Amino acid sequence: MDILAIESSCDETAAAVIRDGREIISSVVATQIEEHRLYGGVVPEIASRRHCESICGVVSEALEKAKMTVKDVGAVAVSFAPGLVGALLVGVNFAKGLAFSLGKPLVPVHHIRGHIAANYLTHRGLEPPYMCLVVSGSHSHIVKVKSYTEFETLGKTIDDAAGEAFDKAARAMGFHYPGGVFIDRASKLGDSALYKLPKPHTKNPYDFSFSGLKTAVLNLIHNTEQRGEKTDINSLSACFQKTVCEMLTEKFIAAAVENNCKTIAVAGGVAANSGLRAALETAAKMHNMELFAPSLSLCGDNAAMIGCQGYYEYLAGNVADTNLNAYATMSLDEVKF
Ligand code: KG4
Ligand code: ZN
Repeated sequence: MDILAIESSCDETAAAVIRDGREIISSVVATQIEEHRLYGGVVPEIASRRHCESICGVVSEALEKAKMTVKDVGAVAVSFAPGLVGALLVGVNFAKGLAFSLGKPLVPVHHIRGHIAANYLTHRGLEPPYMCLVVSGSHSHIVKVKSYTEFETLGKTIDDAAGEAFDKAARAMGFHYPGGVFIDRASKLGDSALYKLPKPHTKNPYDFSFSGLKTAVLNLIHNTEQRGEKTDINSLSACFQKTVCEMLTEKFIAAAVENNCKTIAVAGGVAANSGLRAALETAAKMHNMELFAPSLSLCGDNAAMIGCQGYYEYLAGNVADTNLNAYATMSLDEVKF
C-alpha cells in the first residue's frame, strides 16, 4: 500500500510517498530555517504562513517524484500532534480535504511515534519490541516500544528537551539557530575536559533535566567575560556535548538493562549528534545490545517517517474522520483523536 504522508508540525513542510511502511518512494522537505534564524528560534505565526504557501507545491513534488497522482495512493497520513498548533493545522486541513475529496482513509500520526518509525525506513529488519531514546528539539523520552502502535514512556525531560538545551547553549556560545549541529562540529576541535559542567539529578532515574546545565554554560561564559578572559568555545562545546551525551546514554542504557532489552534505538533531531551516536555504540557493545539509528537525513523532521508510522497506524485501524483536529501536546502512550 502506498501512503501519501504530510508533516507540518514545526518549521519543515514535508510530504512523502511510502510503500508498505518500509520503502521511501519519494520524500520532499521544504525548510524555513533561514527565516526563523533571524529571530533566534521558530516564530509560530511565520511557520504557519510558510506552511500555507509551501504545502501544495511540496505535496505535488512528492507525487511527481513518485510518478503518481493522488488517485494512486491508498491513504493520506498526517502529523496531527504534538507541535505548533497553527502549523499542524495547515497539514491536518490539507490532508483532510485531500482524503475526503478522494474517498481515501485519513490516518493521524503522533509526531514522536513518527520519529521512532524513521528507524524502520533505515533498518528493514527492525521490529518491536525494543527500547528507544527519542531526542528532538522539543522532546527527550525513554520509550518502551512494545509494538508498532503500543508505547510506554519510562522517563522524559522535566524541563528543557535535549535539542532545546543544545540550541540555547549554542546561542550563548554565539552560534546560529538551531545550534546543535554547530556544537557538534566545534566539539571535534575542543578539549572535553577543560570545563567542569554539572549533571543535574532527577527524582525518577529515567527522567532528564537540562536547564541547570544550560544555566551553567551561560554562567561560565559570563564569568569568563567578567574576568576579561576569552571562553574557548570549541572546548566548551566539547564539554557540553560530552555531558549531555553521558546523561542521555547512562539513563537510557540503565532503563534498557533493567527491562532486559537487548535491542535499542535512538530517534529525533539530536540522534544526528556524532557524540551521542558514539556514546550509544560504545555502551551498546559493552552491554551486548544491538543499536539502531536512523540515517542522518531521517533524524530531523520529514514526512517519510510519518508515512511509515501511518502504515502501522492504518493496519491497527487508527483512521480519523472529518472531525480530526490538531493538538499542541499529546502523550505518546495514549493517542486520542
Ligand atoms: O526532531 P527535530 O528536527 O525537530 C523536533 O521535532 O523538535 O529536532 C531538531 C533539534 C534541534 O534542537 C537541533 O539543534 C537538533 O535537533 N540537532 C542536533 C544535531 N542536529 C540537529 N543536536 C545536536 N547535534 C546535532 N548534530
Ligand atoms: Zn520532530
